[in-house]
Amino acid sequence: MKEKVENLDWNNLGFKYHDLPYSFVAKYKDGQWQAGELTEKSTLELSEAAEVLHYGQEIFEGLKAYRRKDGKINLFRPELNAERLANSAKRLGMEPYPIDAFVDSVKKIVKANEEFVPPYESGGTLYIRPFMIGTTTVVGVQPATEFTFHVYATPVGAYVNGLSPAPYTVSQYDRAAYAGTGRAKTSGNYASSLIASVQAHKEGFADCLFLDPREHKYIDEFGGANFFGITKEGQFVTPKSNSILPSITKRSLLEVAQRQGLNPIETQIKFADIDQFVEAGAMGTAAVISPVGSITDNGKKHVFYDEEKTGPVTAKLYNELVDIQYGDRPSPKGWVQTI
Ligand code: PLP
Ligand code: COI
Repeated sequence: MKEKVENLDWNNLGFKYHDLPYSFVAKYKDGQWQAGELTEKSTLELSEAAEVLHYGQEIFEGLKAYRRKDGKINLFRPELNAERLANSAKRLGMEPYPIDAFVDSVKKIVKANEEFVPPYESGGTLYIRPFMIGTTTVVGVQPATEFTFHVYATPVGAYVNGLSPAPYTVSQYDRAAYAGTGRAKTSGNYASSLIASVQAHKEGFADCLFLDPREHKYIDEFGGANFFGITKEGQFVTPKSNSILPSITKRSLLEVAQRQGLNPIETQIKFADIDQFVEAGAMGTAAVISPVGSITDNGKKHVFYDEEKTGPVTAKLYNELVDIQYGDRPSPKGWVQTI
């Protein structure tokens, strides 16, 4: 059922799906992408033998539209989501959706559902979920030759605890193989993480941290966000790994951290060295920056800064990032598009 804007509680949106008036759809067939269009249809019709249902050709993105103080709307580096979707497509043997068409589809979906972009300072944003699936009917294992690119949007609040620290645990499972699909944003990575996060929730944790799949020695990432730690010396450290998603929030925070004098580096981080960090966080579009209060491994709890309070370095990074996203302070050239 289509959502009515008057039924939304902007300050308590949670992170869930609302069926908005418009979605966007484009199809690839006969060797080319057709022009996409807005649609009021929020369901898909597929053959029972569709590629995506059996061999998992699905890739997706997540980005947000931010309501500015002046009422206009900001997008944050949407072309980087377009590029990452194209890279995911290549890894999964799918047909990349053109970068300009992607950004255009995001603008269209935001404009069409504009009244659902939460108000400034409500804590909410409009989350935009572009995805692509292989639709060809196949029985033998082979890539599809027809694809659907689809975008929906839904108003959301905080994904984890907002700016309150949350407890995490180390997963006993891998989410992606060493030379697998960890760098692609594809449903299979999330499917293989589900029981690990269910287990973590059962044990009272917000989510789990995955270690590198080859040696289980280095920090990889959380189920839906990259990891960062702040050392005693005040350095911003984030994992370098083949099997993690190249986060756009991470890429941006590396620059913000540089400006803030945090001497940021991307490097392999041994889990055994976790106590070098006096603050830690999860970073991503949905997570923004979610402070990590503790990480428990085999019953041993490592606490960062304070289990209840956000550390000052994390808070400063959060404030600068969020201010940039909402247009409350100048951003590096090209980071924000106002529509
Ligand atoms: N890692 C995973 C597994 C994710 O699902 C996400 C979310 O998109 C991220 C990291 C963060 O990426 P980004 O900052 O581009 O949203
Ligand atoms: C995002 O941050 O956009 C994601 O896709 C993460 C997901 C776990 C909600």
